[in-house]
Amino acid sequence: MKLTERPRRLRKSPQIRAMARETFVQTQKLIYPIFVEEGENIKAEIEAMPNQYRYSTDKLDEILEMLVKLDIGGVLLFGIPKHKDECGSSAWDENGAVQQAVRYIKKNYPDLVVITDVCMCEYTSHGHCGILEHNDVHNDKTLEVLAKTALSHARAGADMVAPSDMMDGRIGFIREKLDEEGFENTLIMAYSAKYASAFYGPFREAAGSAPSFGDRASYQMDPANGDEAMREIRLDSEEGADILMVKPALAYLDILYRAKQATDRPVAAYSVSGEYSMIKAAAKNGFIDEKRIIKESTQCIFRAGADMLITYYAPEIARFVKAGEL
Ligand code: PBG
Repeated sequence: MKLTERPRRLRKSPQIRAMARETFVQTQKLIYPIFVEEGENIKAEIEAMPNQYRYSTDKLDEILEMLVKLDIGGVLLFGIPKHKDECGSSAWDENGAVQQAVRYIKKNYPDLVVITDVCMCEYTSHGHCGILEHNDVHNDKTLEVLAKTALSHARAGADMVAPSDMMDGRIGFIREKLDEEGFENTLIMAYSAKYASAFYGPFREAAGSAPSFGDRASYQMDPANGDEAMREIRLDSEEGADILMVKPALAYLDILYRAKQATDRPVAAYSVSGEYSMIKAAAKNGFIDEKRIIKESTQCIFRAGADMLITYYAPEIARFVKAGEL
């Protein structure tokens, strides 16, 4: 038959396919989330996230050495405090879990980019992401505690702070406070398009951060909205964010794509706890091929426009990259 277009020619052999491939993954673009818990001698598996652990700082070496060996770009730290209260005061404790871990990692593994999650939900007794007033999170009062927290992370040596609270104006507010204190070189990675998502379920078990009443719909975004995400991205850019994030990843690839088209800044994708747990659970049942699912979803996220990827599968992905499989 006379066909002018035969796209299959480009799929003829593994060599030609490799030549024609559009998307490549690099280990330096991967960021691994770590839960750091206050205390000592802790390595506790998270039930809903098999093979993911909460670590005390003294137990971090094993995982950090592995990440360095695999040339993984960086880590994103979440803190699990001993003490919680109404305003989440442990969040800016100079000797808090995150602050200690940051100092330890920057001293012993200086080449790992250290990013800290800046939010109140792990630190407040009510589990909401800020200061409550009339049973809702008060935007402007929350900015103050977020900025204090971000500053304490910067003082500890964090390369980058990542506000995940979704308050209005927090990027500009935090930027100004950091600059005032001489941290003009500390980057801000904004959780810009962060949706009110059920995909965070396993994380809330891991971090003990589920809200004790209500939900996060008055601050995180409605999954039905896309234009609104572009507005958040624009605002965070205008307020000085260095990197913009879309979260979750797999169910939000359209948002990721649009974000990448709409901005001149790097865009990060966060493949969240629920995405990890779903793959793990299905694989455990033999319903899917875990390795192939990891590779495929990673390629899809980068193809959609991610410049970097935060994922609990970072070590597995890096191993695929090293083996020439990604
Ligand atoms: C803190 C925060 C959450 C996640 C990242 N930062 C939880 C939430 O918003 O409830 C979710 C990460 C994940 O599910 O892997 N606010």
